[in-house]
Amino acid sequence: MKAVDIKKISVLGGSGLIGSGWATFFLWKGFDVNVYDVNDALLQTAKERITANLSYLADKGVITSEVKDKVLQKAFYTKELKDALSDAQFVQECAPEKYEHKQALVAALDQYGSKEAIFASSTSGLLITEIAKNSKYPERCIGAHPYNPPHLIPLVEISKGEHTSPAVLQMAYDFFQTAGKEPIILQKEAPGFIANRLQIAIYREAVDLVLRGVCTVEDVDKALCCGPGLRYALMGQNLIFQLGGGPFGLKGVMMHIGPSAEMWMNDMAVWKKWPEGCIDILQEGVDKEMAHRRAEDGKTNEEISRWRDDKLLSLLKLLNKV
Ligand SMILES: NC(=O)c1ccc[n+]([C@@H]2O[C@H](COP(=O)([O-])OP(=O)(O)OC[C@H]3O[C@@H](n4cnc5c(N)ncnc54)[C@H](O)[C@@H]3O)[C@@H](O)[C@H]2O)c1
Repeated sequence: MKAVDIKKISVLGGSGLIGSGWATFFLWKGFDVNVYDVNDALLQTAKERITANLSYLADKGVITSEVKDKVLQKAFYTKELKDALSDAQFVQECAPEKYEHKQALVAALDQYGSKEAIFASSTSGLLITEIAKNSKYPERCIGAHPYNPPHLIPLVEISKGEHTSPAVLQMAYDFFQTAGKEPIILQKEAPGFIANRLQIAIYREAVDLVLRGVCTVEDVDKALCCGPGLRYALMGQNLIFQLGGGPFGLKGVMMHIGPSAEMWMNDMAVWKKWPEGCIDILQEGVDKEMAHRRAEDGKTNEEISRWRDDKLLSLLKLLNKV
C-alpha cells in the first residue's frame, strides 16, 4: 500500500475533543471517514461536533457550503468496531489516554481490519511499543499526535515503537503531508514526544515563577503570548537565535547570552512532581486572568475557544496553511 491508496479512515473515539477534530480534518480533505464511538448518544455528539466544525470552516470561507454538505455525506457513524475497521486503510485512534483502551483497539484492528491498514494513535505520550505489544502486526502501529484543535493546528508528531516498519512511518509521513499537515518523525521513542516536552518544560518554569512570587499567573501568560509566543508562530527557537546573533548567527547569541543563561539555568526549576497545592493556586490565577479579559475577547471557556479559533484561522491564512 502507498499513501495515495488511503481513501477511507476510521476515527476511533470520534465524539471526543480530538476524535471529532480529526474526523473534521479528514472529511474536509475529502476522505471517507468511519466515525466510531461506544454508544448512540456519543455518536450523536460526534455528529454535532463534526457538523459544527465544518459549518465553522464554511462560515469563515475556508470551504464552500456545497463542499461542507458534500463532505458531511462522507461520514459513516457506527458503534460497531467491525464496521468501523473492516474497510479502512488508516485508523486514527482517539480513545482515552490509557494503555488498556488503545491495546484493545489494536486487537480489534487485528481481528476485523485489513492487514495493511495503519494504526495511528493520537496518544499524548504513551509508548507505541507498549500500545502495540499484543498485536500480531506491531509493524503497522505508529503514534500520530495532533495538537488541539487537530483540524486547525498543522503539526503531527509521528512516532514509532520498537517494531514499527520504516516503510509505514514514511507512508504516514507522506499521507499527512499530502493531506496538508506539517508532520515530523521522531527518530526514537520519547515519552511526551517533542512538542509536549517543550510545553511542559516551559510550564514547569512558569509555575515555579508563580510559586516563588515572581509574577502572577496572568503575567506569566502575558510574558509568553505577547513575547516569544508571537515569534513561535513563525519560527522555532534555533532560528530565532540565528536571527538574534547578527552576522555570527546562533553562535553569536550563545557567545552573548550563553554564560548568563547558565546562571539562569542554575536558578531554574528542576522539580519532578507538581508541588503540593500548586493546582489550586494556578486555577485561582487563571480564573482571575479570565475575568480580566475584554468582553470582546471572551471570558468563558467557550467564548475564549471561539476567539482562539478565529485568531488561529487568521494566522493560518496569513501563513498560507489553510
Ligand atoms: N485533549 C487534548 O488536547 C489532546 C491533544 C492531543 C492528543 N490527545 C490524545 O487524544 C486522545 C483522546 O483525547 P481527548 O481529549 O479527545 O479525550 P476525550 O475524553 O474528549 O475523548 C475520548 C473519546 O473516546 C471515547 N471512548 C471511550 N472509551 C472508548 C473505547 N473503549 N474505544 C474507543 N473510544 C472510546 C469516548 O467516548 C470519547 O469520545 C488521548 O489519547 C489524548 O491523550 C489529546
